[in-house]
Amino acid sequence: MNILSGKKVLLGITGGIAAYKTTYLTRLLVKAGVSVKVVMTPSAKDFVTPLTLSTLSKNPVLSTFTNEDDDNDMWNNHVDLGLWADLMIIAPCTANTMSKMVNGTVDNLLLAVYTSAKCPVYFAPAMDLDMYKHPSTTQNFEKLASYGNFMIPAGDGELASGLSGKGRMAEPEEIVSFIEQQLLKEQPLRGKKCLITAGPTHESIDPVRFIGNHSTGKMGMALATDLANRGVLVTLIMGPSSVKTDNVLIERINVISAQEMYEAVHANINNQDYAIFSAAVADYKPAIPAHQKIKKSSETLTLELVKNPDILASVGAMESHPFLVGFALETENEMEHAFAKAKKKNTDLLILNSMNDNGAGFGIDTNKITIIDNQGNAQEFPVKSKTLVAKDIVDEIVKRTS
Ligand code: CTP
Repeated sequence: MNILSGKKVLLGITGGIAAYKTTYLTRLLVKAGVSVKVVMTPSAKDFVTPLTLSTLSKNPVLSTFTNEDDDNDMWNNHVDLGLWADLMIIAPCTANTMSKMVNGTVDNLLLAVYTSAKCPVYFAPAMDLDMYKHPSTTQNFEKLASYGNFMIPAGDGELASGLSGKGRMAEPEEIVSFIEQQLLKEQPLRGKKCLITAGPTHESIDPVRFIGNHSTGKMGMALATDLANRGVLVTLIMGPSSVKTDNVLIERINVISAQEMYEAVHANINNQDYAIFSAAVADYKPAIPAHQKIKKSSETLTLELVKNPDILASVGAMESHPFLVGFALETENEMEHAFAKAKKKNTDLLILNSMNDNGAGFGIDTNKITIIDNQGNAQEFPVKSKTLVAKDIVDEIVKRTS
Protein backbone atom coordinates (compact mmCIF):
# COMPACT_ATOMS: atom_id res chain seq x y z
CA MET A 1 0.00 0.00 0.00
CA ASN A 2 1.27 3.47 -0.92
CA ILE A 3 2.02 5.71 2.07
CA LEU A 4 -0.33 8.31 0.58
CA SER A 5 -3.18 5.84 0.35
CA GLY A 6 -6.25 6.93 2.34
CA LYS A 7 -4.97 10.48 2.82
CA LYS A 8 -7.14 13.56 2.19
CA VAL A 9 -5.33 16.12 0.07
CA LEU A 10 -6.29 19.69 -0.81
CA LEU A 11 -4.72 20.67 -4.09
CA GLY A 12 -4.43 24.45 -4.42
CA ILE A 13 -3.81 25.65 -7.97
CA THR A 14 -2.66 29.19 -8.76
CA GLY A 15 -2.46 31.03 -12.09
CA GLY A 16 0.67 29.88 -13.86
CA ILE A 17 1.17 27.97 -17.09
CA ALA A 18 2.30 24.90 -15.11
CA ALA A 19 -1.31 24.64 -13.88
CA TYR A 20 -1.98 22.37 -16.85
CA LYS A 21 0.23 19.74 -15.20
CA THR A 22 -2.10 19.55 -12.20
CA THR A 23 -4.49 17.39 -14.21
CA TYR A 24 -1.82 14.68 -14.27
CA LEU A 25 -0.91 15.39 -10.63
CA THR A 26 -4.56 14.90 -9.64
CA ARG A 27 -4.64 11.61 -11.53
CA LEU A 28 -1.46 10.37 -9.84
CA LEU A 29 -2.84 11.23 -6.40
CA VAL A 30 -6.19 9.56 -7.06
CA LYS A 31 -4.36 6.47 -8.37
CA ALA A 32 -2.34 6.37 -5.14
CA GLY A 33 -5.62 6.10 -3.19
CA VAL A 34 -5.84 9.77 -2.16
CA SER A 35 -9.11 11.75 -1.79
CA VAL A 36 -8.43 14.98 -3.64
CA LYS A 37 -10.32 18.27 -3.36
CA VAL A 38 -9.20 21.10 -5.63
CA VAL A 39 -9.22 24.81 -4.76
CA MET A 40 -8.24 27.22 -7.55
CA THR A 41 -7.47 30.92 -7.61
CA PRO A 42 -9.65 32.75 -10.15
CA SER A 43 -6.69 33.24 -12.51
CA ALA A 44 -5.79 29.53 -12.41
CA LYS A 45 -8.99 28.94 -14.41
CA ASP A 46 -7.34 30.68 -17.38
CA PHE A 47 -4.86 27.79 -17.56
CA VAL A 48 -6.87 24.67 -16.69
CA THR A 49 -10.60 24.08 -16.47
CA PRO A 50 -12.49 23.24 -13.27
CA LEU A 51 -14.47 20.67 -15.29
CA THR A 52 -11.33 18.66 -16.07
CA LEU A 53 -10.18 18.79 -12.45
CA SER A 54 -13.55 17.92 -10.95
CA THR A 55 -13.84 14.98 -13.34
CA LEU A 56 -10.39 13.70 -12.38
CA SER A 57 -10.73 14.35 -8.64
CA LYS A 58 -14.38 13.19 -8.53
CA ASN A 59 -15.12 16.23 -6.33
CA PRO A 60 -16.46 19.71 -7.03
CA VAL A 61 -13.73 22.29 -7.65
CA LEU A 62 -13.92 25.40 -5.49
CA SER A 63 -12.60 28.86 -6.22
CA THR A 64 -14.96 31.38 -4.63
CA PHE A 65 -16.31 31.93 -1.13
CA THR A 66 -19.89 31.57 -2.31
CA ASN A 67 -21.40 28.88 -4.43
CA GLU A 68 -23.83 30.54 -6.86
CA ASP A 69 -25.00 27.23 -8.34
CA ASP A 70 -26.24 25.64 -5.15
CA ASP A 71 -28.77 27.49 -2.94
CA ASN A 72 -28.50 24.79 -0.26
CA ASP A 73 -24.74 24.99 -0.04
CA MET A 74 -23.94 28.67 -0.62
CA TRP A 75 -20.88 29.09 1.57
CA ASN A 76 -17.61 27.35 0.72
CA ASN A 77 -16.25 27.11 4.21
CA HIS A 78 -12.49 27.61 4.12
CA VAL A 79 -12.11 26.56 7.78
CA ASP A 80 -13.85 23.21 7.18
CA LEU A 81 -11.70 22.59 4.10
CA GLY A 82 -8.55 23.41 6.05
CA LEU A 83 -9.57 20.99 8.81
CA TRP A 84 -10.64 18.24 6.38
CA ALA A 85 -7.22 17.89 4.78
CA ASP A 86 -4.35 15.67 5.94
CA LEU A 87 -2.08 17.76 3.74
CA MET A 88 -2.26 20.64 1.29
CA ILE A 89 -0.27 21.00 -1.92
CA ILE A 90 -0.07 24.38 -3.65
CA ALA A 91 1.09 23.70 -7.19
CA PRO A 92 1.99 25.66 -9.14
CA CYS A 93 2.70 28.31 -6.53
CA THR A 94 3.23 31.66 -8.27
CA ALA A 95 5.45 34.47 -6.93
CA ASN A 96 2.27 36.48 -6.31
CA THR A 97 0.59 33.78 -4.19
CA MET A 98 3.85 33.10 -2.34
CA SER A 99 4.14 36.75 -1.40
CA LYS A 100 0.54 36.75 -0.10
CA MET A 101 1.17 33.52 1.85
CA VAL A 102 4.18 35.19 3.49
CA ASN A 103 2.26 38.33 4.42
CA GLY A 104 -1.06 36.81 5.43
CA THR A 105 -2.99 38.45 2.60
CA VAL A 106 -6.31 36.68 2.09
CA ASP A 107 -7.99 37.85 -1.09
CA ASN A 108 -9.22 34.53 -2.46
CA LEU A 109 -10.54 31.17 -1.21
CA LEU A 110 -7.21 29.38 -1.73
CA LEU A 111 -5.39 31.85 0.55
CA ALA A 112 -8.16 31.65 3.15
CA VAL A 113 -7.88 27.85 3.14
CA TYR A 114 -4.07 28.07 3.37
CA THR A 115 -4.13 30.41 6.38
CA SER A 116 -6.70 28.27 8.21
CA ALA A 117 -5.16 24.87 7.36
CA LYS A 118 -3.76 22.95 10.33
CA CYS A 119 -2.13 20.27 8.17
CA PRO A 120 1.35 20.28 6.58
CA VAL A 121 1.49 22.45 3.44
CA TYR A 122 3.70 21.70 0.45
CA PHE A 123 4.27 24.34 -2.21
CA ALA A 124 5.81 23.87 -5.65
CA PRO A 125 7.00 27.23 -7.00
CA ALA A 126 6.81 27.93 -10.71
CA MET A 127 7.98 31.14 -12.37
CA ASP A 128 10.40 32.57 -14.86
CA LEU A 129 14.12 32.29 -14.05
CA ASP A 130 14.69 35.94 -13.15
CA MET A 131 11.65 36.01 -10.88
CA TYR A 132 12.91 32.80 -9.26
CA LYS A 133 16.31 34.41 -8.58
CA HIS A 134 14.91 37.72 -7.32
CA PRO A 135 15.93 38.45 -3.70
CA SER A 136 12.28 38.91 -2.68
CA THR A 137 11.50 35.40 -3.96
CA THR A 138 14.47 33.87 -2.15
CA GLN A 139 13.37 35.62 1.01
CA ASN A 140 9.81 34.34 0.58
CA PHE A 141 11.08 30.75 0.18
CA GLU A 142 12.89 31.11 3.50
CA LYS A 143 9.94 32.73 5.25
CA LEU A 144 7.50 30.07 4.06
CA ALA A 145 9.89 27.34 5.23
CA SER A 146 10.20 29.12 8.60
CA TYR A 147 6.39 28.93 8.92
CA GLY A 148 6.71 25.12 8.63
CA ASN A 149 5.77 24.77 4.94
CA PHE A 150 7.65 22.32 2.72
CA MET A 151 9.07 23.67 -0.52
CA ILE A 152 9.21 21.31 -3.50
CA PRO A 153 12.05 22.94 -5.45
CA ALA A 154 11.55 23.95 -9.06
CA GLY A 155 13.59 22.26 -11.75
CA ASP A 156 15.89 23.52 -14.49
CA GLY A 157 14.80 23.55 -18.09
CA GLU A 158 12.93 25.30 -20.83
CA LEU A 159 10.45 27.85 -19.48
CA ALA A 160 7.21 29.12 -20.99
CA SER A 161 8.96 32.44 -21.80
CA GLY A 162 11.31 30.57 -24.13
CA LEU A 163 14.22 31.17 -21.73
CA SER A 164 15.98 28.29 -20.10
CA GLY A 165 16.89 28.03 -16.41
CA LYS A 166 15.49 27.35 -12.94
CA GLY A 167 11.81 27.98 -12.33
CA ARG A 168 9.96 25.06 -13.96
CA MET A 169 7.49 23.52 -11.55
CA ALA A 170 8.61 20.07 -10.35
CA GLU A 171 7.01 17.34 -12.49
CA PRO A 172 3.87 15.69 -11.00
CA GLU A 173 5.81 12.43 -10.34
CA GLU A 174 8.50 14.44 -8.52
CA ILE A 175 5.88 16.21 -6.40
CA VAL A 176 4.29 12.90 -5.38
CA SER A 177 7.66 11.29 -4.69
CA PHE A 178 8.84 14.34 -2.65
CA ILE A 179 5.76 14.10 -0.42
CA GLU A 180 6.07 10.31 -0.08
CA GLN A 181 9.72 10.66 1.00
CA GLN A 182 8.81 13.34 3.52
CA LEU A 183 6.00 11.22 4.99
CA LEU A 184 8.36 8.26 5.24
CA LYS A 185 10.91 10.41 7.08
CA GLU A 186 8.26 11.30 9.64
CA GLN A 187 7.44 7.65 10.32
CA PRO A 188 8.44 6.51 13.81
CA LEU A 189 9.54 3.12 12.43
CA ARG A 190 11.77 4.49 9.68
CA GLY A 191 15.19 2.78 9.66
CA LYS A 192 14.06 -0.04 12.00
CA LYS A 193 14.44 -3.72 11.13
CA CYS A 194 11.85 -6.47 11.25
CA LEU A 195 12.02 -10.19 10.57
CA ILE A 196 8.82 -11.90 9.44
CA THR A 197 8.06 -15.58 8.85
CA ALA A 198 5.20 -16.27 6.46
CA GLY A 199 3.48 -18.92 4.39
CA PRO A 200 3.34 -22.68 4.97
CA THR A 201 6.20 -25.14 5.27
CA HIS A 202 6.42 -28.33 3.22
CA GLU A 203 7.85 -31.44 4.87
CA SER A 204 9.11 -34.07 2.43
CA ILE A 205 7.62 -37.54 2.50
CA ASP A 206 9.51 -38.63 -0.61
CA PRO A 207 10.94 -36.76 -3.64
CA VAL A 208 7.43 -35.98 -4.99
CA ARG A 209 5.19 -35.64 -1.91
CA PHE A 210 5.04 -33.49 1.15
CA ILE A 211 3.01 -32.66 4.26
CA GLY A 212 1.78 -29.07 4.08
CA ASN A 213 -1.14 -26.78 4.92
CA HIS A 214 -3.38 -24.21 3.24
CA SER A 215 -1.46 -21.07 4.26
CA THR A 216 -0.83 -18.71 1.31
CA GLY A 217 1.54 -16.16 2.91
CA LYS A 218 -0.89 -13.26 2.21
CA MET A 219 -1.05 -12.10 5.85
CA GLY A 220 2.74 -12.13 6.18
CA MET A 221 3.12 -10.26 2.89
CA ALA A 222 0.55 -7.64 4.01
CA LEU A 223 2.59 -7.12 7.19
CA ALA A 224 5.86 -6.90 5.24
CA THR A 225 4.34 -4.34 2.84
CA ASP A 226 2.86 -2.19 5.60
CA LEU A 227 6.19 -2.14 7.47
CA ALA A 228 8.19 -1.38 4.31
CA ASN A 229 5.80 1.47 3.50
CA ARG A 230 6.69 2.91 6.91
CA GLY A 231 10.41 2.75 6.08
CA VAL A 232 11.22 -0.52 7.88
CA LEU A 233 13.83 -2.88 6.40
CA VAL A 234 12.06 -6.24 6.34
CA THR A 235 13.63 -9.69 6.20
CA LEU A 236 10.79 -11.89 4.99
CA ILE A 237 11.38 -15.61 5.46
CA MET A 238 8.74 -17.17 3.25
CA GLY A 239 7.68 -20.78 2.87
CA PRO A 240 6.44 -22.05 -0.53
CA SER A 241 4.04 -19.33 -1.77
CA SER A 242 3.01 -17.77 -5.06
CA VAL A 243 2.63 -14.32 -3.47
CA LYS A 244 4.97 -11.83 -5.17
CA THR A 245 7.36 -9.33 -3.53
CA ASP A 246 8.04 -5.98 -5.22
CA ASN A 247 9.22 -3.58 -2.51
CA VAL A 248 12.92 -2.71 -2.33
CA LEU A 249 12.78 -2.61 1.47
CA ILE A 250 11.70 -6.27 1.64
CA GLU A 251 14.51 -8.80 1.47
CA ARG A 252 12.90 -12.18 0.79
CA ILE A 253 14.46 -15.49 1.77
CA ASN A 254 12.60 -18.47 0.34
CA VAL A 255 12.56 -21.67 2.37
CA ILE A 256 10.68 -24.94 2.11
CA SER A 257 10.76 -26.88 5.37
CA ALA A 258 10.40 -25.87 9.03
CA GLN A 259 14.04 -26.79 9.61
CA GLU A 260 15.14 -24.43 6.81
CA MET A 261 12.88 -21.70 8.25
CA TYR A 262 14.39 -22.25 11.69
CA GLU A 263 17.93 -21.91 10.30
CA ALA A 264 17.07 -18.80 8.25
CA VAL A 265 15.45 -17.16 11.30
CA HIS A 266 18.46 -17.83 13.54
CA ALA A 267 20.89 -16.63 10.86
CA ASN A 268 19.01 -13.31 10.67
CA ILE A 269 17.51 -12.66 14.12
CA ASN A 270 20.36 -10.61 15.57
CA ASN A 271 19.97 -6.82 15.32
CA GLN A 272 16.26 -7.02 14.47
CA ASP A 273 14.00 -4.57 16.30
CA TYR A 274 10.85 -6.66 15.79
CA ALA A 275 10.08 -10.23 14.77
CA ILE A 276 6.65 -11.36 13.60
CA PHE A 277 5.92 -15.07 13.24
CA SER A 278 2.96 -15.40 10.90
CA ALA A 279 4.08 -18.65 9.23
CA ALA A 280 1.92 -21.75 9.50
CA VAL A 281 4.80 -24.05 10.39
CA ALA A 282 4.21 -27.80 10.12
CA ASP A 283 4.46 -29.12 13.66
CA TYR A 284 5.65 -32.56 12.52
CA LYS A 285 7.73 -33.94 9.66
CA PRO A 286 8.35 -37.49 8.41
CA ALA A 287 11.12 -39.04 10.54
CA ILE A 288 13.00 -40.31 7.52
CA PRO A 289 11.88 -39.02 4.09
CA ALA A 290 12.15 -41.74 1.46
CA HIS A 291 14.91 -41.25 -1.13
CA GLN A 292 12.76 -42.74 -3.88
CA LYS A 293 9.07 -42.34 -4.67
CA ILE A 294 7.03 -44.55 -2.32
CA LYS A 295 5.17 -47.20 -4.36
CA LYS A 296 1.59 -48.14 -3.48
CA SER A 297 2.53 -51.72 -2.79
CA SER A 298 0.66 -52.22 0.50
CA GLU A 299 -2.97 -51.61 1.55
CA THR A 300 -2.05 -49.19 4.31
CA LEU A 301 0.86 -46.88 4.87
CA THR A 302 2.05 -45.56 8.21
CA LEU A 303 4.34 -42.58 8.38
CA GLU A 304 6.40 -41.96 11.44
CA LEU A 305 6.45 -38.24 12.22
CA VAL A 306 8.82 -36.35 14.49
CA LYS A 307 8.39 -32.89 15.96
CA ASN A 308 9.78 -29.86 14.14
CA PRO A 309 11.58 -27.19 16.16
CA ASP A 310 9.23 -24.49 17.46
CA ILE A 311 10.82 -21.45 15.83
CA LEU A 312 8.89 -18.78 17.73
CA ALA A 313 9.48 -20.47 21.10
CA SER A 314 13.20 -20.79 20.32
CA VAL A 315 13.44 -17.01 19.76
CA GLY A 316 11.25 -16.27 22.82
CA ALA A 317 13.75 -18.32 24.89
CA MET A 318 16.76 -16.26 23.74
CA GLU A 319 18.32 -14.13 26.48
CA SER A 320 17.85 -11.01 24.41
CA HIS A 321 15.39 -10.93 21.55
CA PRO A 322 13.47 -8.44 19.42
CA PHE A 323 9.93 -7.30 20.26
CA LEU A 324 8.12 -10.56 19.58
CA VAL A 325 4.78 -11.00 17.82
CA GLY A 326 3.30 -14.48 17.36
CA PHE A 327 0.14 -15.75 15.75
CA ALA A 328 -2.22 -18.41 17.06
CA LEU A 329 -4.74 -20.18 14.88
CA GLU A 330 -7.30 -21.96 17.03
CA THR A 331 -10.46 -23.96 16.40
CA GLU A 332 -11.82 -24.25 19.99
CA ASN A 333 -11.35 -22.66 23.43
CA GLU A 334 -9.62 -19.90 21.52
CA MET A 335 -8.84 -17.44 24.34
CA GLU A 336 -7.66 -20.10 26.78
CA HIS A 337 -5.32 -21.67 24.21
CA ALA A 338 -4.06 -18.30 23.03
CA PHE A 339 -3.20 -17.06 26.54
CA ALA A 340 -1.33 -20.32 27.22
CA LYS A 341 0.55 -20.01 23.91
CA ALA A 342 1.53 -16.39 24.59
CA LYS A 343 3.00 -17.41 27.95
CA LYS A 344 4.72 -20.54 26.68
CA LYS A 345 6.33 -18.77 23.71
CA ASN A 346 7.10 -15.54 25.60
CA THR A 347 5.47 -13.22 23.05
CA ASP A 348 5.01 -9.49 23.57
CA LEU A 349 1.88 -9.64 21.40
CA LEU A 350 -0.06 -12.66 20.19
CA ILE A 351 -2.46 -12.33 17.26
CA LEU A 352 -5.33 -14.77 17.66
CA ASN A 353 -7.34 -15.94 14.64
CA SER A 354 -10.18 -18.34 15.10
CA MET A 355 -11.18 -20.76 12.34
CA ASN A 356 -14.74 -20.35 13.71
CA ASP A 357 -14.95 -16.70 12.68
CA ASN A 358 -16.40 -15.88 9.28
CA GLY A 359 -13.85 -13.85 7.33
CA ALA A 360 -10.80 -15.46 9.00
CA GLY A 361 -8.63 -18.30 7.76
CA PHE A 362 -6.41 -19.48 4.94
CA GLY A 363 -6.46 -18.27 1.34
CA ILE A 364 -8.97 -15.43 1.75
CA ASP A 365 -8.33 -11.69 1.65
CA THR A 366 -9.85 -10.87 5.04
CA ASN A 367 -9.01 -11.72 8.62
CA LYS A 368 -10.48 -11.24 12.08
CA ILE A 369 -8.05 -10.90 14.94
CA THR A 370 -7.79 -10.44 18.69
CA ILE A 371 -4.53 -8.95 19.95
CA ILE A 372 -3.34 -10.35 23.28
CA ASP A 373 -0.51 -8.67 25.17
CA ASN A 374 1.86 -10.10 27.79
CA GLN A 375 -0.22 -8.60 30.62
CA GLY A 376 -3.22 -10.70 29.67
CA ASN A 377 -5.17 -7.88 27.94
CA ALA A 378 -7.18 -8.81 24.85
CA GLN A 379 -8.40 -6.40 22.15
CA GLU A 380 -10.86 -7.70 19.56
CA PHE A 381 -11.03 -6.26 16.03
CA PRO A 382 -13.81 -6.62 13.40
CA VAL A 383 -13.34 -8.48 10.10
CA LYS A 384 -11.09 -6.41 7.82
CA SER A 385 -9.00 -6.86 4.70
CA LYS A 386 -5.58 -8.39 5.43
CA THR A 387 -4.05 -5.05 4.41
CA LEU A 388 -5.99 -3.22 7.16
CA VAL A 389 -5.37 -6.01 9.67
CA ALA A 390 -1.63 -5.60 8.99
CA LYS A 391 -1.98 -1.86 9.64
CA ASP A 392 -3.75 -2.51 12.98
CA ILE A 393 -1.00 -4.92 14.05
CA VAL A 394 1.80 -2.53 13.06
CA ASP A 395 0.02 0.43 14.74
CA GLU A 396 -0.14 -1.67 17.92
CA ILE A 397 3.60 -2.42 17.66
CA VAL A 398 4.29 1.33 17.28
CA LYS A 399 2.13 2.09 20.31
CA ARG A 400 3.94 -0.51 22.43
CA THR A 401 7.48 0.31 21.38
CA SER A 402 7.73 4.08 20.91
N1 CTP B 1 5.34 -21.55 15.24
C1 CTP B 1 6.69 -21.64 14.98
N2 CTP B 1 7.26 -22.87 14.82
C2 CTP B 1 6.52 -23.99 14.92
C3 CTP B 1 5.13 -23.88 15.19
C4 CTP B 1 4.57 -22.65 15.33
O1 CTP B 1 7.37 -20.62 14.88
N3 CTP B 1 7.10 -25.16 14.77
C5 CTP B 1 4.76 -20.21 15.46
C6 CTP B 1 3.74 -19.80 14.41
O2 CTP B 1 4.37 -19.07 13.37
C7 CTP B 1 2.81 -18.90 15.22
C8 CTP B 1 2.85 -19.51 16.61
O3 CTP B 1 4.06 -20.26 16.66
O4 CTP B 1 3.31 -17.58 15.36
C9 CTP B 1 1.69 -20.39 16.96
O5 CTP B 1 1.46 -21.34 15.96
P1 CTP B 1 0.24 -22.36 16.05
O6 CTP B 1 0.32 -23.29 14.90
O7 CTP B 1 -1.04 -21.63 16.32
O8 CTP B 1 0.56 -23.11 17.39
P2 CTP B 1 1.46 -24.33 17.73
O9 CTP B 1 2.56 -23.86 18.59
O10 CTP B 1 1.85 -25.06 16.51
O11 CTP B 1 0.48 -25.15 18.64
P3 CTP B 1 -0.77 -26.06 18.24
O12 CTP B 1 -0.59 -26.45 16.79
O13 CTP B 1 -0.65 -27.20 19.18
O14 CTP B 1 -1.99 -25.23 18.46
